[in-house]
Amino acid sequence: MAKWQRMLHYFRTCSVVEWEVWDRPTRFFHWSVTGLLVADLITGWLDPAWQLDRHLLLGGVTAGLLMFRLLWGVVGSEYNRFSHYFQSPAQVYDDARALWRGQTKSSSLALNPVNAWVSLLLLLIVFALLVTGLVAYGGEEHMGPLASLVSYSAGTYGQSLHEKLAVLLLVVVAIHIGIVRRESQLTRVSLLRSMVTGCKPMDVDQPTEQMRNANVAWAMVLGMVLMFSIDHTSKALGQLPMDGWRPLHYPVAYQEKCGHCHWTIHPSLLPEEAWQNLLSHMHDHFGHSVTLNGKEAVTITSFLLVHAAEDWNTDAAHRFRKLMPDPDQRITNHPAWQKIHLNIEAAVFDRPPVSSPINCPVCHHDALSGRFDEHAIHIPKATAASHSPLQDEIPSAPRQ
Ligand code: HEC
Ligand code: HEC
Repeated sequence: MAKWQRMLHYFRTCSVVEWEVWDRPTRFFHWSVTGLLVADLITGWLDPAWQLDRHLLLGGVTAGLLMFRLLWGVVGSEYNRFSHYFQSPAQVYDDARALWRGQTKSSSLALNPVNAWVSLLLLLIVFALLVTGLVAYGGEEHMGPLASLVSYSAGTYGQSLHEKLAVLLLVVVAIHIGIVRRESQLTRVSLLRSMVTGCKPMDVDQPTEQMRNANVAWAMVLGMVLMFSIDHTSKALGQLPMDGWRPLHYPVAYQEKCGHCHWTIHPSLLPEEAWQNLLSHMHDHFGHSVTLNGKEAVTITSFLLVHAAEDWNTDAAHRFRKLMPDPDQRITNHPAWQKIHLNIEAAVFDRPPVSSPINCPVCHHDALSGRFDEHAIHIPKATAASHSPLQDEIPSAPRQ
């Protein structure tokens, strides 16, 4: 056999003196969740502005797998059941001390007591990450199954907890790996290989044939009930009215008239009175004369006034709600707007692709929805000064 074939063989089959302790579903869960969590961390931390959709998708798959693991912990085959995970504190203490002093000589068939608790803790953290992620998504973005239940501030709180849990996850994973390495060294049984092949050396406490079989039928029944109830609940939740944010339908007249020269500015960015002032001076609109016929004027006016800042509970609406002293009614002259954008170089606003600070959607990819989430911000590079005008692939402000 070639060397690599021997390696493959080593990683695939149990020898005659070994048991298949970890069944296939558990191994699949272990490695796929490991991969997913790495991808979750990358998409969550490295470039949130572009990765939120992918992050959510990965989170959804992780949730599905976690649900499966919880089920399998009840009906799976012997050593994959949670009943093996709950060890008494005394046992955990003894085990930890033995590991620490290097006294562990034979590996336990199931997880050793310390690592069993660490693994449960890992599952718990992943569960908490999923919940806080949903709270953040529901509260800050007003999306997902919790959109109607979670307030904006609770969403922000969920977000900060979510980030702390992600750090905690890394710490606990490091502990988990540390214990695995230590036990592998002391017992000379590669636990890494065990988690790939499922094999561990035979021990006296071999499980009976019956215990070794998984209750697949039960898994299927419980799985169906769980899926049905989750589907039902999320549909019911989706029908509740939203708190603070709602999707907005832009009337055609607004898109065609007001979206002609700039983006269709979200009505929540100005208070009612400011919109009224602006609309009554359309004949002198920043150096342009904009004429609206009677029907257009009615549609646009009622649209903007009904959906003005007072009527939203979003971050942006709260910030820009206070009427400005400036009779010009520019959002970009609002003290709150200027304060947030203070640290951005003027050149970024003046040159393409932004060209003017009014072009919010160039940097805020969710501007059309009015959410202005901090994760949807992406500042494009100013192009005029660079040697290669092609370097920028950022599209210009979308028009609806
Ligand atoms: C003929 C072109 C044109 C049309 C049509 C037009 N606008 Fe404008 N609008 C402008 C220009 C130019 C500015 C100034 C943008 C700048 O400073 O970069 C502006 C600015 C604004 C601003 C202020 C943005 C800020 O900086 O705070 C608002 C609000 C606005 N327009 C609303 C409307 C509405 C509502 C309509 C439709 C009734 C409309 N505009 C139609 C050209 C137009
Ligand atoms: C050149 C890109 C750019 C443009 C154009 C721009 N912004 Fe921003 N905006 C940013 C950046 C970057 C931040 C984050 C600033 C920070 O946190 O220090 C920000 C932050 C914000 C925030 C706070 C978001 C949060 O949750 O922290 C709001 C609200 C906002 N902008 C509204 C607007 C509006 C309204 C417009 C258009 C009138 C606009 N911005 C135009 C780049 C831009």
